[in-house]
Amino acid sequence: MFQLSDDDLAGRRILDCPGGAASFAAEASALGAEVTAIDPIYATAPADLAARATPETERAVAWAHQHADRYRWDWYGSTAEHAAIRRGAAARFAEDVRTTPDRYLAGSLPSLPCPDDSFDLALSSHLLFSYADRLDADFHLAALQELARVATTEARVYPLLDYTGAPLDDLIDHLRTELHDKGIQTSLRKTHYEFHHGADTMLTLQPVA
Ligand SMILES: C[S@@+](CC[C@H](N)C(=O)[O-])C[C@H]1O[C@@H](n2cnc3c(N)ncnc32)[C@H](O)[C@@H]1O
Repeated sequence: MFQLSDDDLAGRRILDCPGGAASFAAEASALGAEVTAIDPIYATAPADLAARATPETERAVAWAHQHADRYRWDWYGSTAEHAAIRRGAAARFAEDVRTTPDRYLAGSLPSLPCPDDSFDLALSSHLLFSYADRLDADFHLAALQELARVATTEARVYPLLDYTGAPLDDLIDHLRTELHDKGIQTSLRKTHYEFHHGADTMLTLQPVA
């Protein structure tokens, strides 16, 4: 989703927000990154979070399979492989949140509990743009500025479609203009990963020195 290279990970301070019930923090930490995941759900006790990961994963798997025509299945191989990978990720999250709870901080965009420049890289997937039907342009702008505030080098956001797959070109153009005016440079970069049809681009933000 984020075109991450080994250099992006090893020894780098990375924010994953929203972290959700995903395995990114566990997997990137195993590759040498220093990851903090932030999500409002982390206010819940680790054991309860771990228990919730399974039904949430089953809901996400069922959704994708019910709307199979909206997705490309070549990356996962099949609906069964997709389900297996998602269940494996949820299990890895459940294990990691129990064994390394300090990696998981409760917090919400657009106001994160972190000083400026706390991270080298901030990553944000499947909240901004995905829920543009209920999160307005002002929320998006404030959240993007917040991600840029806490990341010294770059913030990356994926995908740039809403959860139904609708493109959001007007919103993206508006946000890029506003961010430019606030001294934050943006670019659109192609991703190798594309599950939802058309979700092949991420937005990157770089504070201008
Ligand atoms: C669809 S999940 C995405 C999680 C993960 N990035 C992924 O791709 O699997 C959306 C997450 O956004 C979190 N969330 C909702 N409102 C938020 C906010 N204002 N700031 C940060 N996270 C939020 C939810 O708790 C949920 O875990």
